[in-house]
Amino acid sequence: MSTVLITGANRGLGLEFVRQYAADGWEVLATSRQPEKSAELTQITAQHPTVVLHRLDVTDDESVQDLADKLDGKPIDVLLHSAGIYPREGQHIGEIDYDGWREAMETNLFGVMRVTETLLENVAASQRKQIAAISTSLSSVRGVQDGSVAQAGTSYQYRSSKTALNMALSILAKELEPRGISVVLLDPGWVKTDMGGAHAPLSPQESIAGMRKVLSGNPMEISGKFMGHDGALRLW
Ligand SMILES: NC(=O)c1ccc[n+]([C@@H]2O[C@H](COP(=O)([O-])OP(=O)(O)OC[C@H]3O[C@@H](n4cnc5c(N)ncnc54)[C@H](OP(=O)(O)O)[C@@H]3O)[C@@H](O)[C@H]2O)c1
Repeated sequence: MSTVLITGANRGLGLEFVRQYAADGWEVLATSRQPEKSAELTQITAQHPTVVLHRLDVTDDESVQDLADKLDGKPIDVLLHSAGIYPREGQHIGEIDYDGWREAMETNLFGVMRVTETLLENVAASQRKQIAAISTSLSSVRGVQDGSVAQAGTSYQYRSSKTALNMALSILAKELEPRGISVVLLDPGWVKTDMGGAHAPLSPQESIAGMRKVLSGNPMEISGKFMGHDGALRLW
C-alpha cells in the first residue's frame, strides 16, 4: 500500500486530497494543527482505517520534529504540502503589513522546506519518492509583467512567498535528482475553499482529481516542473 502525508489536511484542498487518496485505498497520514477539532477528518478516519491523524504546525520546528520521531523512518511515497496562508491586510505600498509577510514566508516557504528537510529520509525510503507542493498562478513573475495574472491585485506577501517557494523547490528538484527523488510544484487553479472563496470556478473535487492525475504519472518526468491541475506545464 502506498503512503501519502498531507499538510493542512483539515480543510480546503488538503481535506479533499485526504478524501480522494483514502477512497483510492492509500494509507493517508493526515496532518493539521488541531486534528481533533476537524469533524470531517474524524468522520473520514471512521470510514477509512488507513487514514491516521497527526498533529503538525509547519511553522514550528518542535512540532515537525515530533512528527518525524513518531513516524520513526516510516516510508512516505508522496509528501504533499497543502498548508498555506494568504494574508489579507496591508497589501499596498504605504501600508505594508510586514508581520503578515513574515508569517506568509514562514508558512508558505519555510514551512514547506522545514517539513521536507525533516522528512526527507522517509521519502527516500519509499517506492515513489515524490514531493509535491501547492503553488499558485499568482506566483508568476511573467504574469505580473505581461498583465495576464492581474486579478489578485498587489498581495505582496502571498505572491512573493509562493514565487520564493517555486525557486526553492526548483533548486531542491535539482539537488535531489541524483537520489531519484522527484519534486514538483502544482497549480490547483482557483478553487472554492476558505482561501479561494465562494466565487471560484473550480470545486475541490475537480481540482484535486486533476492534480492527483498529474502526480500519478512517472514522478521523475515532472520533477522540477510547475504543473497545472489540467496537466499543462505552467511557466512562471
Ligand atoms: N483555493 C485556491 O483557489 C488556491 C489557489 C492557488 C493555490 N492555493 C494553495 O493551496 C493550498 C491550500 O489552500 P486552501 O484553498 O485549501 O486554503 P484554506 O482553505 O485556507 O486551508 C489552508 C490550510 O492550511 C493550513 N495551515 C495554515 N497554516 C498552517 C500551519 N502553520 N501549519 C499547518 N497547517 C497550516 C490550515 O490549517 P488551520 O485550519 O489550522 O488554519 C488549513 O488546513 C495553499 O497552499 C494555497 O496557497 C489555493
